[in-house]
Amino acid sequence: MNNGDSVLQVENLKTSFRTKAGIVQAVRGVSFELNKGEVLGIVGESGCGKSVTAMSVLRVLPENARHDTGRILYMGKDLLTLPKKELRKIRGGEISMIFQDPMTSLSPLMKIGRQIEEAILQNTQGISKQDARKKSLDMLKKVHIPDPESRYNCYPHELSGGMRQRVMIAMALSCNPRVVIADEPTTALDVTIQKQILLLLKEMCRSMDLSVIFITHDLGVVAELCDRVIVLYGGLIMEEGTAVELFEHPSHPYTMGLLDSIPRLDQDKGEKLMPIPGSPPDLLAPPDGCPFYARCKYARRICIHEKPDVITLTESHSSFCHLLREDAPKNNNPFADITKSRERGEPENG
Ligand SMILES: Nc1ncnc2c1ncn2[C@@H]1O[C@H](COP(=O)(O)OP(=O)(O)OP(=O)(O)O)[C@@H](O)[C@H]1O
Ligand SMILES: [Mg+2]
Repeated sequence: MNNGDSVLQVENLKTSFRTKAGIVQAVRGVSFELNKGEVLGIVGESGCGKSVTAMSVLRVLPENARHDTGRILYMGKDLLTLPKKELRKIRGGEISMIFQDPMTSLSPLMKIGRQIEEAILQNTQGISKQDARKKSLDMLKKVHIPDPESRYNCYPHELSGGMRQRVMIAMALSCNPRVVIADEPTTALDVTIQKQILLLLKEMCRSMDLSVIFITHDLGVVAELCDRVIVLYGGLIMEEGTAVELFEHPSHPYTMGLLDSIPRLDQDKGEKLMPIPGSPPDLLAPPDGCPFYARCKYARRICIHEKPDVITLTESHSSFCHLLREDAPKNNNPFADITKSRERGEPENG
């Protein structure tokens, strides 16, 4: 499905939570690869399983969580079964996470420079205190914190939200990770600052040859930042493709719905934005078939009962929708043209 070297492979991940109300099936069989040097976006509405997928990678879920099946391969090791001690070495060092709220990861009681220094000391064998301090300052410079020498001695509460997020990025990147997982790292910031942080992340990825999983519910951010995208819904992947494929040839009614609900550059100012009516499925008792069927205006009977198989559209683009099957009826089918051209042996998305 991809040409690049993959650094991380998630295979059939199922993660659930034991709760008083029953078992919440948050992630229900998700598979994807992260390639070297790419920014992979995970998008979808609230509650679709983005954070649980991300937290499963580093096993940082609460006690009531369980991984029911699946493998998460990193450098030939399955992170889901790796002994805790080995996992700790990977966490923060080789794979690091940036969260939405920096205050959950930064200690309020320690100067920010020291916090980065500590992370470096913990994750770099044999490094001296002096070198760790130098590297910490260097990272503050790299994330464009003005006057890093004096900011080094600031406590987190003395910085603005945008600056704190920069410190988080500096900390996450300070141990030269191969993979960074960023879970909605900019949603708490105002739009201008968001943009600056996204540009910074992109710049850092390119210059450090990082692979990034970027979680967001904002398709505008995806267009700006991501190379490839996975669309999640109800704990399952609905569509996967390059950012261009998804924006220009969305091939799942859910992706189309998401696109209709955001402002687009090529859209008339007068055109109304259409939020997707209805709400996501109950993950205590998720539907057997396509999780989107109840909100899908093209749904057919098969969608209720049968989970769609993957339909491969191009080497990088695939969709899980019955409407793309060869034998799907052509009426009330937004993909009738695609299936017709496939019958004629023509290239898709042409
Ligand atoms: N600790 C928990 N106990 C029980 N259910 C949980 C727990 N954490 C998450 N869930 C459930 O798992 C599902 C997926 O949650 P997740 O946090 O991955 O959503 P998300 O896509 O990240 O949403 P958001 O955009 O709001 O961050 C949701 O239905 C949520 O209620
Ligand atoms: Mg989340």
